[in-house]
Amino acid sequence: MATNDRRPDTGAPYDENAQIHLGVFYPGIGAQTVWEDEGAPDQVATDTFVEVARTLERGLFDAFFLGDGQRVRENRGAILSTDIAGRPDAITQLSALAGVTERIGLVATQNTTYSLPVELARRLASLDVLSDGRAGWNIVTTDNAWTGANFRRGGWLEHERRYERATQVVELAKEYWAGKTVEKDTDLLKAVARPTVRSSAQGRPVLFQAGDSSGGRNLAAAHADVVFSANHAYDDAVAYARDLRARSASFGRAADAVKILPGVTVVLGDTPAEAEEKVQWLRSNAHNGVRAIAYLEHYWGKDLSSYDPEGPLPDIEPTEEELDPSRGTISIAARSGKLEQIAQWRALAADKGLSIRELVLEVSPASRFHSGTPGEVADRWADLVRNRVVDGFNINPYHLRDSIGDLVDKLVPALQERGVYRTEYTSTTLRGHLGLDDDTAAQEKAS
Ligand SMILES: Cc1cc2nc3c(=O)[nH]c(=O)nc-3n(C[C@H](O)[C@H](O)[C@H](O)COP(=O)(O)O)c2cc1C
Repeated sequence: MATNDRRPDTGAPYDENAQIHLGVFYPGIGAQTVWEDEGAPDQVATDTFVEVARTLERGLFDAFFLGDGQRVRENRGAILSTDIAGRPDAITQLSALAGVTERIGLVATQNTTYSLPVELARRLASLDVLSDGRAGWNIVTTDNAWTGANFRRGGWLEHERRYERATQVVELAKEYWAGKTVEKDTDLLKAVARPTVRSSAQGRPVLFQAGDSSGGRNLAAAHADVVFSANHAYDDAVAYARDLRARSASFGRAADAVKILPGVTVVLGDTPAEAEEKVQWLRSNAHNGVRAIAYLEHYWGKDLSSYDPEGPLPDIEPTEEELDPSRGTISIAARSGKLEQIAQWRALAADKGLSIRELVLEVSPASRFHSGTPGEVADRWADLVRNRVVDGFNINPYHLRDSIGDLVDKLVPALQERGVYRTEYTSTTLRGHLGLDDDTAAQEKAS
């Protein structure tokens, strides 16, 4: 049991009665272990979405969560093998699920950079009404600049300007949902509109936010109800919780107004060894030779297909140009500069005698895996939520049927035994499931 002197400094007091909130991020980009599995269901078929959402509802999950990609990503002119073509629009997809589910929250990722704000607010309000107050909006700015071309806008807006626009779009949406006539006239946004959709049972859609820069964190602190956090390693998660809570307070909100749900992958076994074996298999499978070469090609900016993934790092020099973050093909960690990054990798590979594939495996974070027996994972999670490091998790499944089945049939009972997870839904809305302040929407309406 945690004691005060051993407690991590998360900016919130220990809470013995804290409850865990769970979402599942429907697998998409980069989820090859899910889709390449023999017998995997169709990744974009409605039946697959329905099966997953209903299973999660059986497990009393807070939310079913869809990412958003309005354009497939490219590398050297070819579509990335880790991308997924043919994904339906998230709001439309979730509207279909609203009719075949009853309680689970339905969260749609939608970007603020390219979307038309009034139209977006209206579509989200529609999902909220259609689902009787179960809609959530995961606010992203998106770093995929190709998306802009779909709207004849090219790779517009620098990183900071994207967050300025995001803030304005969210403010506009909140006004729209509060039934107010919206008027915005800024260099980033022009709109005049009267709301056409009524409020839902939860007042307005629940606001999630994903994006980890200072601008992203401020957007969450000022406006979000929940963050889909990228900070899964323990020390990062503690520092993040402290930082976000300080920011929330600086915006005049309660320090812990925003629920923190990092994205993690849960791997369960009957024994710790069995779980660890699965993790090793998943990690090595996620970085097979072809993907390891493609990963390095982003950084080298050159065709590396003639290199053996089991051999040493490419001996040719990378192109001089730095990575273009607006292309969105690279991980968030890549901002430090690619030449510096490549120099570090060369030193690491030389030091440890790593092949290309082994190097890529070595540098990809293992911390997102939470593995062990159901009891072990449940103990760790109970400790994390009671210590207020996180409020729950947005789980990335590694397999559709096995891993979601394990969550519902093995992990959920273990969490319930420890008193950190509901044994039945006690609310009909997403806002209610998350234990969010019901007054928020009402207060905003009144203001
Ligand atoms: C956990 C997480 C999930 C994200 N999901 C999406 C997504 O589904 N669609 C999208 O366009 N961008 C997504 N993004 C990218 C963000 O929109 C943003 O462009 C990126 O994180 C860069 O912003 P930042 O510098 O604030 O992190 C996601 C980011 C994070 C951290």
